[in-house]
Amino acid sequence: MKKIIVTGGAGFIGSNFVHYVVNNHPEIHVTVLDKLTYAGNKENLVGLPSNQVKLVVGDIADAELVDKLVQETDAVVHYAAESHNDNSLNDPFPFVQTNIIGTYTLIEACRKHNIRYHHVSTDEVYGDLPLREDLPEYGEGVGEKFTAETPYNPSSPYSSTKAGSDLLVKAWVRSFGLKATISNCSNNYGPYQHIEKFIPRQITNVLSGITPKLYGEGKNVRDWIHTNDHSSAVWAILTKGRIGETYLIGADGEEDNKTVIELILELMGQSKDAYEHVQDRSGHDLRYAIDSTKLREELGWEPEFTDFRSGLVDTIQWYTDNQEWWKSEKELIESNYAKQGQ
Ligand code: NAD
Ligand code: DAU
Repeated sequence: MKKIIVTGGAGFIGSNFVHYVVNNHPEIHVTVLDKLTYAGNKENLVGLPSNQVKLVVGDIADAELVDKLVQETDAVVHYAAESHNDNSLNDPFPFVQTNIIGTYTLIEACRKHNIRYHHVSTDEVYGDLPLREDLPEYGEGVGEKFTAETPYNPSSPYSSTKAGSDLLVKAWVRSFGLKATISNCSNNYGPYQHIEKFIPRQITNVLSGITPKLYGEGKNVRDWIHTNDHSSAVWAILTKGRIGETYLIGADGEEDNKTVIELILELMGQSKDAYEHVQDRSGHDLRYAIDSTKLREELGWEPEFTDFRSGLVDTIQWYTDNQEWWKSEKELIESNYAKQGQ
């Protein structure tokens, strides 16, 4: 493998993956295909060597463009998506268009040219698990986490379009022999994450003198993983994964939202209760938790950045040092949230 296409490589996780490839595999040429929506930013790729990374600004649903690029590559790693649940509740159409039609366009081109395809997806396709506190101390469901066998049960327009795209890939593997793998990862954090998302929103709220916002009571649990660990896992699956298989990516990082917001406040020198409760998200998933045994045992992958506290310290430092990266968007993001009572 010498050349790969990374769709969505100017977004949060895609750009971290491009940095990971450049830092660890200088022999690989990366073509980033990205539409540069509100969530994409060329700045995420600044400083990368121009002889190794090329940005093509375009839509993954543009069949002609995709066909031309795919026939010149060895593999496609597909990150591009509409990715934010709250946006999907306000306007689902772009999610259907990009996540479903976009994925369809890519896998059709990969099928035609017999190209290796890796599909980046989310644990949200499985719906949610009950909160541990609502389960009996011992007994059914207590140790339950998502595995590749968990039935699909998505809750939001975002997660249902991701589920739809996963199912397209599974069908293309079975019926057309597409050389594909799928990964379903839990919540990422780290540098370059758009400030609409929970952790960067609260960090940039504090830096802007805005009160941090917690949805509902904040009991919902997310299974946090540093985005660098997501990148190393995707690389392992791309290079060593078995075709047709699904691998779940997670780093045993379960935390409830209240704990996370309090930790951010503490690490930023604020009072731990200096936040406000705002309107809860409609259909809000309660808890995600990943069982990544298959990935660890089969491909020998292990996460490196498992100290959440120190990962948050670094992330806070990054948003503090890179205010020009997010400042111009802050007012618009917050005024849109305010219209929803959030
Ligand atoms: P993001 O919103 O930060 O970035 C998405 C990128 O895709 C942007 O650069 C955007 O410009 C690009 N894009 C959107 N529509 C496009 C189109 N039609 N054509 C070309 N490019 C387009 O998203 P993210 O958080 O980095 O997520 C990346 C992928 O990882 C998504 O597939 C998401 O479902 C998946 N994922 C995310 C998480 C998470 O915690 N954020 C966890 C698991 C999986
Ligand atoms: O699990 C993987 C998924 O994680 C990815 O597939 C999605 O692309 C990604 O956006 C993320 O989805 P979430 O909905 O879990 O992430 P978000 O950052 O939007 O919210 C995390 C939690 O924090 C969630 O329970 C809602 C809550 N929240 C969010 C915001 C923006 C708040 O309490 N306050 C907020 O201001």
